[in-house]
Amino acid sequence: MRIFTKLSAPLYFLFVFLCLKTAFSSSIHASSFSTTHLCSHEEALALLQFKTSFSINYTVPYQDYCADLFYIKPNYSKIESWKEGIDCCSWDGVSCDNVTGHVIALNLSCSFLYGTFPSNSTLFLLKNLQSLNLAFNDFRLSKIPPEISQFTRLKHLDISDSRFSSHVPGEIAHLPKLVSLNLSNYYISSDLILEITTFKNLVHNLSEVRELVLNGVNMTSVNPRFFMNLSSSLTTLRLFNCQLRENFPNSIFHFPNLKGFSLGGKGNLTIDLPSSNWSSPLQWLYLGDMDCGRRLPESIGDLKSLLSLSLSCNLEGSIPASIGNLSQLTDLSLFSNNFNRQIPSSLANLTQLTSLYLSNNQFSGLIPTSLANLTQLTSLDLFNNQFSGPIPAFIGNLRQLTSLNLYSNNLGRQIPSSLANLTQLTSLDLFNNQFSGPIPTSISNLRQLTGLYLDSNNLSGQIPSSLANLTQLSYLSLSYNLLNGTLPPWIFTLPLLESLYLNHNQLQVPNMFSALQNLEILDLSHNNLIGKIPNCLPKSLSVLNLQANYFDGNIAFGFLEGCGLRNLNLHGNQMDGLLPRSLVNCRMLEVLDVGNNNISGTFPHWLESLPHLQVLVLRSNKFHGSVQSTKESPSFPKLRVLDLSSNYFVGALPVRYIENFNAMMDPHKDGGSPKYMMVSTRANSYQYSLVVTWKGFDYELQKILTVFSSIHLSNNMFEGEIPDVIGKLNSLKGLNLSHNNLTGHIPLSLGNLTNLEWLDLSSNGLTGKIPDELVSLTQLSVLNLSNNHLVGRIPQGSQFNTFGNGSYEGNLGLCGIPLSKSCDGIGTQPSSFQEKDELWRFGWRVVVLGYGCGVVFGLLMGYLVFRTGKPKWFVSLFDGRPSQSGRKMRRARKLVQKRN
Ligand SMILES: *[C@@H]1O[C@H](CO)[C@@H](O)[C@H](O)[C@H]1NC(C)=O
Ligand SMILES: *[C@@H]1O[C@H](CO)[C@@H](O)[C@H](O)[C@H]1NC(C)=O
Ligand SMILES: *[C@@H]1O[C@H](CO)[C@@H](O)[C@H](O)[C@H]1NC(C)=O
Ligand SMILES: *[C@@H]1O[C@H](CO)[C@@H](O)[C@H](O)[C@H]1NC(C)=O
Ligand SMILES: *[C@@H]1O[C@H](CO)[C@@H](O)[C@H](O)[C@H]1NC(C)=O
Ligand SMILES: *[C@@H]1O[C@H](CO)[C@@H](O)[C@H](O)[C@H]1NC(C)=O
Ligand SMILES: *[C@@H]1O[C@H](CO)[C@@H](O)[C@H](O)[C@H]1NC(C)=O
Ligand SMILES: *[C@@H]1O[C@H](CO)[C@@H](O)[C@H](O)[C@H]1NC(C)=O
Repeated sequence: MRIFTKLSAPLYFLFVFLCLKTAFSSSIHASSFSTTHLCSHEEALALLQFKTSFSINYTVPYQDYCADLFYIKPNYSKIESWKEGIDCCSWDGVSCDNVTGHVIALNLSCSFLYGTFPSNSTLFLLKNLQSLNLAFNDFRLSKIPPEISQFTRLKHLDISDSRFSSHVPGEIAHLPKLVSLNLSNYYISSDLILEITTFKNLVHNLSEVRELVLNGVNMTSVNPRFFMNLSSSLTTLRLFNCQLRENFPNSIFHFPNLKGFSLGGKGNLTIDLPSSNWSSPLQWLYLGDMDCGRRLPESIGDLKSLLSLSLSCNLEGSIPASIGNLSQLTDLSLFSNNFNRQIPSSLANLTQLTSLYLSNNQFSGLIPTSLANLTQLTSLDLFNNQFSGPIPAFIGNLRQLTSLNLYSNNLGRQIPSSLANLTQLTSLDLFNNQFSGPIPTSISNLRQLTGLYLDSNNLSGQIPSSLANLTQLSYLSLSYNLLNGTLPPWIFTLPLLESLYLNHNQLQVPNMFSALQNLEILDLSHNNLIGKIPNCLPKSLSVLNLQANYFDGNIAFGFLEGCGLRNLNLHGNQMDGLLPRSLVNCRMLEVLDVGNNNISGTFPHWLESLPHLQVLVLRSNKFHGSVQSTKESPSFPKLRVLDLSSNYFVGALPVRYIENFNAMMDPHKDGGSPKYMMVSTRANSYQYSLVVTWKGFDYELQKILTVFSSIHLSNNMFEGEIPDVIGKLNSLKGLNLSHNNLTGHIPLSLGNLTNLEWLDLSSNGLTGKIPDELVSLTQLSVLNLSNNHLVGRIPQGSQFNTFGNGSYEGNLGLCGIPLSKSCDGIGTQPSSFQEKDELWRFGWRVVVLGYGCGVVFGLLMGYLVFRTGKPKWFVSLFDGRPSQSGRKMRRARKLVQKRN
């Protein structure tokens, strides 16, 4: 699923700018050659034959990059202009020598060529080629043809991101005239490997090379010290995600002509920033996702030519005051380090700065006044630090700002009205601070705003009506505040709104949200909204969350054919009536949660055909009847969470369904690390939440891991035996069948549920022994078998050593530890176990929370760091190309604090 969405406009331009300024500064663009002479028949023929060896395929994944990077028109390939009878020198992408007529440059980047690259390609007949650019095509994992060495005059070779794979042929080193080489394999990875021998030859032979771009090329066998043998003419070296390891020699900084250097990415890479003798012409330097030796040396101030500096490499301590010497600097990124001292006042010297990114450090105290001098700033990121105090008034003087991200700090007081002077702002993010008081009406001056994020503060009062002027808004989040009053009608007239989060406030009276024709995400949960829900929904809607309000009446929506809803959450309202059958029109539906309402009717078996339904929550309603499949198979093919508890269901447990819950079988099916369930829309991503109950407590999982799977059938009137087949659902984390009329033995097959963390079979009529097989449930942290008719010895060992009396009480026939009743009839040492039991009960809550929340929150914490740590666009710095990724993921919350 695509998580990141389009880059916001200012960043985009920033990157285009960076890109123009750096990556391509010295590369020759084919189109700059003039085309006066007629090209030779042979060469025209060679090109035409080359053309026929590929198909044109516009449905390739990099089309977006092409549009952004090269302004390529959609569905246009340069090669389409290649036609017999027309001078080939005038074909798009072809450039000829204006005297000899030879084709000397070919730029087919983003031409949507699709097919295997033939090693006998007629392209190799173009002996005079000096520049070849095949970037962003799809050569379908072809090998780079060794014949490439026939281009003996080649100076510029760019075959980046064109899905060449396997080993780079040794012949690449037989291009002695090469000045620039780009083998990047970065946006679309294709496992291109550059072996040590080839690399050594390359370094040895390419005595003219000035630009070397190898991002994403697997150079695992290359020892970084070999880079030191590169030509001293080197001006540009890009090495991001090259699988390099160990220490990269810092003598790279002594290369006399080096203008740009980037290094970092996966692996174990380190570099020690030199304390003197930096390459003085250095204009840009990006080091990220690596380690660069704790301290940023004073000597950084020697790099007087620096225009752009980005270091995210575990630096700590302070930013040296000498940074103020870098008076040419326009872009400074020091995010994702551990800087914790004051920001030096010399920063005020950097008056050329247009972007300043200091996010994700440990800066504290007031926002420094030195920023007041940086009047050229267009982007300022200070998020995820510990800045406190108010937003200083001088921020209002940074009139060029288009993006101001101050979220996740301890900033407070009122939101200053001086912000209203920042009329260029397109994004204002104050999320997760301690702002209080009303939302200033003057914010309505910020007419360019497309995103306004004021969520997770203590803002109170009404939503000011003046915000209706923000007609460019596509994202508005005011959730987790103390806002009250009625929901202003203007919200439903914002023409471009795609995501609206007003959840967790005290808002009243809904309005018609059907008017918002672009709306994709609507979260009004946890408010005081009352009344009936409207009967029609915006067609564009993917997520509708009305949880925890006071809506009543029946679910009036008519879900039309083509309904795109993926998440419908009506949990915790007062709705009644039946579930509308038209829900089956929502073929994309992943989550349906109507828990805690007064909905009646029989089990909606007609939902079983929804191909993507993963979570179905009907708990605490008035459903009745038996729960049986009407179909043979497959039913609920993706279901992972089923909660039918606290209804009036009767009859046998739904064996036929259980047999078919494929998504609950085989926990490793997904592979990879756990992810959260979410939906990504044009505008944003939205993480699903879910209420789970344990022992009468509701826990709201703010995120649902895709590995989370559980069945809750408790508090119904199910009867009969627990079917053996339940043992097939071996990815289950939780199983709750308590408070029913189940009889018979506990099936031995439960011992197969090796992922089970909690199991509740309490308050039934179960008989027989507790199977010893349950000892193999090594993940089990909660067990409740109380109030049954179980007999015999309680199994011992493994997790069973941790359960207290409470797990077994109300079963008169049970004996053995931890019960005081020993199996040979003699009472033993109750007290210590009772104590333990109490402790366990305490811990047990935590564990439950632990599943319900702890584990999830644990991952959430990791995720928070991820979210706030590194903007995804960051990696694009290393390529000098703008990135598609964009808006940071927004929904991580400080919910833990808020709720506890
Ligand atoms: C076009 O490329 C896509 C993605 O690489 C591929 O799945 C599809 O089969 C290709 N289409 C044709 C007609 O070759
Ligand atoms: C041919 O190209 C060279 C450089 O590429 C340029 O200096 C020269 O003026 C051109 N000659 C003509 C006749 O266009
Ligand atoms: C290239 O070789 C293939 C067979 O390997 C052949 O079908 C094709 O005609 C050859 N193309 C040229 C231009 O020689
Ligand atoms: C890099 O290439 C080596 C072989 O040279 C291979 O073993 C390794 O798995 C590759 N690494 C990645 C991340 O593909
Ligand atoms: C990094 O190096 C450490 C120790 O040198 C080693 O334990 C670790 O496995 C390495 N990690 C990677 C990803 O190579
Ligand atoms: C700031 O700039 C001034 C002059 O432009 C210079 O004299 C001073 O040394 C600089 N300060 C620092 C700390 O770099
Ligand atoms: C910053 O701006 C203030 C007020 O305009 C000015 O007095 C000060 O000299 C400036 N500082 C630097 C380092 O430019
Ligand atoms: C905002 O702009 C107005 C008019 O230009 C000016 O008078 C006022 O001082 C500015 N406020 C701040 C806080 O910058």
